[in-house]
Amino acid sequence: MLVWKRALTFYILILVFPQLTMRAERGDYQARPFCNVQINGGDLEVKMRRGVNIGNALEAPNEGDWGVVIKDEYFEIIRNAGFDTVRIPIRWSSHADNSPPFKIDENFLKRVDWVINKSLEQNLITIINIHHYEEIMEKPEEHRDRFIALWRQISEHYKDYPGLLYFELLNEPHGNLTSNLWNKLIQDSIKVIRETNPDRKIIIGPVDWNSVYRLEDLMIPVNDKNIIVTFHFYTPFEFTHQGAEWVSPSPPVGRRWTGTEAERRQITNELDIAAQWAAKNNISLFLGEFGAYSKADMASRVRWTYFVAREVEKRNIAWCYWEFCSGFGAYDPVKNEWRRDLLKALIPVSGTHYISAYTEHGEVFGSGWHNEGSYATIRLSETRIGVIIQDVFDHFEGLGSKDRVIDEGTVEIYVDGSREIRAVWRKDYTRLLLTFIIAGICLIVSLMLIRRGLGRNMLSLLWKLKN
Ligand code: BGC
Repeated sequence: MLVWKRALTFYILILVFPQLTMRAERGDYQARPFCNVQINGGDLEVKMRRGVNIGNALEAPNEGDWGVVIKDEYFEIIRNAGFDTVRIPIRWSSHADNSPPFKIDENFLKRVDWVINKSLEQNLITIINIHHYEEIMEKPEEHRDRFIALWRQISEHYKDYPGLLYFELLNEPHGNLTSNLWNKLIQDSIKVIRETNPDRKIIIGPVDWNSVYRLEDLMIPVNDKNIIVTFHFYTPFEFTHQGAEWVSPSPPVGRRWTGTEAERRQITNELDIAAQWAAKNNISLFLGEFGAYSKADMASRVRWTYFVAREVEKRNIAWCYWEFCSGFGAYDPVKNEWRRDLLKALIPVSGTHYISAYTEHGEVFGSGWHNEGSYATIRLSETRIGVIIQDVFDHFEGLGSKDRVIDEGTVEIYVDGSREIRAVWRKDYTRLLLTFIIAGICLIVSLMLIRRGLGRNMLSLLWKLKN
């Protein structure tokens, strides 16, 4: 009997113990680095597909300087919206000593731990990088040891974290960090990382701000299956960066992206370069940044974002939108809600299509995602503008046979695919003509009166009346 009881207790303990330890691990999550790889799916293969950058936060000189402080709930919001990945840009270089051993500030490291843990709690693939290390772009050789020392500390610190945590060596190498120097630096830093993180995913990208055109120059470490290659995509730059304050000269605002054949080809050609390179080199590709700044009109941003995301997916490339809640933001941090049109461009809802309407004058309402088979109402706020020479609305371009014209300035669009409806205006000179005619008549009458002497009499009569 006693033997049976002991055996039973033993089996119960075997079953219950792992559950208890798992809960304990979750409980003190934030307090210390991860050690249980299984809990958060570290070893379970989570496929990186769709992600978002939490930009303008930890890569600002200090978090908050650029208006973004990462809130704990962001990760749940991101996960619930359907993303599986976050990329967290980090400016380590502003939080580490300038002389050996280039120690990283402990409080900063704790903050990064917290952020990473919150992200991993949501089972998100979490990419951390070295971002905005401007000094290394200027003086690569002088900063080489510091760069490697940063990675030595980061990789030592996170060595027990689950596989969901990825390292990206450096955001957008450029300037004096030439391909040769960069390739050497990649080799040296990966060697250091691999001492403590033999299997961690490491992301590297080409020079010229991670340009697809420089992929050819990138030397990928041989025999390392855990390397992913990244590139960034902001084509056409004049559209995606219009009005960008940090670009000089800043491309003028007002440039639209309507998805013409030529516009689409410009994008697919560039993506093909990346995809072909990846196939040739048998390597996984990751589009680490793409997005259009909020100074561009929303309809164009939605079209561009949707098109790029889908074309990238067609090529089997994972992507990460730039960025969550700042100038390119898919999320509005003031209203605490997603900018739905952008979110749907990133993570489409099947059976919906984007109907966008454009006008050069007044306003046009009704752009947005609509269900297939429904009607989208497009309405112009005004159909006539100006005083003497008037701009007059003429017709909507882009209508199909199933669309309905309701009244002047209002149409109902049958939703059978994404479409752009354009208000076409014409100049109306009728009032100008009338003004000329009236002025002409007045002139002729006055001349006639003067000729008959009536004018002079009239003037002297007025003079008398006045006195
Ligand atoms: C930079 C950001 C910039 C973005 C788009 C990123 O790599 O770090 O500061 O807003 O690219 O230009």
